[in-house]
Amino acid sequence: MSNDPNLIVRYTANERTNHWITAISFVVLALSGLALFHPSMFWLTALFGGGQWTRILHPFVGLVMFVSFLILAMRFWHHNYLDRDDVQWLRQIDDVLANREENLPEIGRYNAGQKLLFFTMVGCLFLLLCSGVVIWRRYFSVYFPIEVVRLAALVHACAAFVLIVGIVVHVYAAVWIKGSVGAMVRGTVTLGWARKHHPKWFRESVK
Ligand code: HEM
Repeated sequence: MSNDPNLIVRYTANERTNHWITAISFVVLALSGLALFHPSMFWLTALFGGGQWTRILHPFVGLVMFVSFLILAMRFWHHNYLDRDDVQWLRQIDDVLANREENLPEIGRYNAGQKLLFFTMVGCLFLLLCSGVVIWRRYFSVYFPIEVVRLAALVHACAAFVLIVGIVVHVYAAVWIKGSVGAMVRGTVTLGWARKHHPKWFRESVK
């Protein structure tokens, strides 16, 4: 519990630091990755000290994001198991989009959308790491046939596309649900926020 009786702790300082290291490295990776992806976005290399530095930095920052996300995913893994209520929640997606929360099954710590996005992130990060190692010319590409390197480049671009779209949805949802960003910045949410958006988790937290 928080010292303030009107607030509930949702994230500890360590969890928040872990999340924001992942988020900052994601932004750096998305910008440097897009810069390397297509000549029309090459100008973004100016943010990283030019083309060569972008190429050097991108994979190392990728390792930072992977390790940071791995720790984050291990912390939150058990909160993201899907249950019957989640299937029902997905069936009633029109009620979700129209903010008719009273019609929905009781939501626990995370809703089904957050859980599905969590496992989408896990899949993308795994694919990005594996394909990224294969296309990391400086150290590893020589150990793989050229066809495998080409396939890995395609997998890398596709996984990055899905992750970028996923994170756009993640950020949109975080801003859409007032009070969520505060949870990840200050670590706490109000009793009202918890009761409205995550009633089952609310009851478990104030027991
Ligand atoms: C770039 C800006 C980002 C913002 C503004 C943001 C915001 C947030 C917020 C507000 C929450 C709390 C949601 C809640 O408690 O209901 C959250 C949770 C979370 N975020 Fe982010 N995030 C960002 C980027 C990322 C990135 C890049 C990743 C991973 C690649 C990520 C992974 C997660 C995970 C795993 C959770 C816990 C949700 C779960 O386990 O289902 N976030 N984020």
